[in-house]
Amino acid sequence: MRIVMVGSGYVGLVSGACMADFGHNVTCVDKSVDKIDALNAGKVPIYEPGLETIIDHNRAAGRLHFSKELAGPVADADVIFIAVGTPARRGDGHADLSYVYAATREIAAAVTHFTVLVTKSTVPVGTGDEIERICREEFPEKDIVVVSNPEFLREGAAIIDFKRPDRIVIGTEEPRAIEIMREVYRPLYLNEAPLFFCERRTSELIKYAANAFLAMKISFINEMADLCEMLGTDVQKLAKGIGMDKRIGDKFLHAGPGYGGSCFPKDTLALVKTAQDHNSSLRLIETTVAINENRKRAMGRKVIAACDGSVRGKKIALLGLTFKPNTDDMRDAPSISIIQALQDGGADVHAYDPEGMDAARQLLGDVTYGNDAYEIADAADAIVLVTEWDEFRALDFRRLKLCMKTPILVDLRNIYPASEVKRHGFVYFSIGKKA
Ligand code: UDX
Repeated sequence: MRIVMVGSGYVGLVSGACMADFGHNVTCVDKSVDKIDALNAGKVPIYEPGLETIIDHNRAAGRLHFSKELAGPVADADVIFIAVGTPARRGDGHADLSYVYAATREIAAAVTHFTVLVTKSTVPVGTGDEIERICREEFPEKDIVVVSNPEFLREGAAIIDFKRPDRIVIGTEEPRAIEIMREVYRPLYLNEAPLFFCERRTSELIKYAANAFLAMKISFINEMADLCEMLGTDVQKLAKGIGMDKRIGDKFLHAGPGYGGSCFPKDTLALVKTAQDHNSSLRLIETTVAINENRKRAMGRKVIAACDGSVRGKKIALLGLTFKPNTDDMRDAPSISIIQALQDGGADVHAYDPEGMDAARQLLGDVTYGNDAYEIADAADAIVLVTEWDEFRALDFRRLKLCMKTPILVDLRNIYPASEVKRHGFVYFSIGKKA
């Protein structure tokens, strides 16, 4: 199959590379000349475990190509995916669809034969209808079927998520498109991934509802964590105890500093806006968003409380900055609000992150960066574990205690047993447990 992926950002690149790995012939297109030049020179612009190897392998096999030019590849394609960005629109939180519609017009102009046009970008309900209207009214001579096929990749685990998905959601009722989409995903039958076909608008909503539900689970457990702290109970045991009930499930019940990233914050907001526009209320999701916003800054206050109520003039060392491990993505990372709260309180903030420091430098002012956990912990008044990178899971507490000014650890991801940390003479604070 000849596939074109329009937009070589996170979703486009991972999906395109994995489809090439399944044996399809894939061209990833992007308007950014720098990005395409870098990819053609063998440089991968994002950090995602395993992606570089797959890209190298499939470029060498002649199945994966990168192009600045859209018309040529589109003219030959059987199926074209739109994977351009849909950022939150400045001011109102609606998804900005201008890139999606611009791509649609460019693609439709270049199509030469029956083509399936698929939205992979996360788009609000009705976007497929609008794409179809543009194609029908502005390019009436073209034979294009518009399909929705949302992506559920997690950063840091994107390759495995693409190759072993729980389900593949495909929104179309058009028999010719159903056949083509089955062919695109045929290699996944081997992995027994169910293809779930539904009407296009439902497929668009499934993506938002899935992300909103997961975000709600996180906000739920984070509020329970606060209650546990008041009651002197243990949120990790609580999560385990409820999660063993299959109706609840044990995933996405890790209490922490709040969710961040490129999807949950943006998609929850966009869903709330969609509901408002349709005179419907989604109070659970509105509250989920509010809880998460408050929580990020509250984590800064938690650190201040752990430092006897003041961080003025104190050196605070942050381990991890990205919104989760195994990514260099800083979008809506809780660390941003935590650092702001600490700096407002007069702290001297030092930080180290294995992959996120380049992105962090663009976003954060007055932070001193170090090369590892021990360098930033030197003479620190407290260390704060913000992101659970593997390299922070077995810290040498003896070494840390020797170099720190006061041995305080605030573990916002609950990765350490209190007894182990305290054994080394640390004052230990975690989430959702008695201090
Ligand atoms: C998410 C969805 O999982 C994915 O299906 C969708 O396509 C895109 O959005 P991603 O943003 O990459 O993926 O990360 P995810 O692993 O879902 O984590 C999101 C945030 O929630 C992170 O900040 C993470 O730390 C936080 N989180 C996650 C928790 O605080 N607790 C949990 O139990 C799980």
